[in-house]
Amino acid sequence: MSSSLLLRAAAIAIAIGASGPTGAATPAELLAAYTAQAGRPASPERGQRFFNQKFGRDFENCAECHGAVPIGAGKDLASNKALKPMAPATNPARFTDKARVEYMFRINCKDVVGRECTAGEKADLIAWLISLKP
Ligand code: HEC
Repeated sequence: MSSSLLLRAAAIAIAIGASGPTGAATPAELLAAYTAQAGRPASPERGQRFFNQKFGRDFENCAECHGAVPIGAGKDLASNKALKPMAPATNPARFTDKARVEYMFRINCKDVVGRECTAGEKADLIAWLISLKP
């Protein structure tokens, strides 16, 4: 494993382990906030396309680690550890902590897309993930 992958896995492990006050929220609240920020309605179809689109930076796409339809487990290619599902239907802890969500969007969008995701892209992604049912 390259040193940058190790750093990435370590930074995420520390962030997840960090205790203290968090930005408690619901997926619907986060979706509403990103949608308001974007100033346009969210689209689940666009979210699905974005998640599976090949950007090919450090990692090819979001699906590479989280799975193409993330109602099931994924696998972190940086740490080789299993990832819990991304869909709130099968993992109710998802999108319930604004600070964690923002942190993970920042890291993952940079490593996959090469820039931060826009509010519109985040809204589309959450709209799609909320729509997934097992
Ligand atoms: C190299 C593997 C990898 C790739 C590629 C990846 N992720 Fe992740 N993602 C992780 C890890 C590791 C975590 C933290 C552990 C966890 O939450 O399961 C995470 C967590 C998240 C979270 C936190 C959600 C929550 O509420 O817990 C979001 C949001 C997220 N990723 C979005 C994305 C998006 C969007 C993309 C594509 C642009 C992406 N990820 C690509 C590994 C990856």
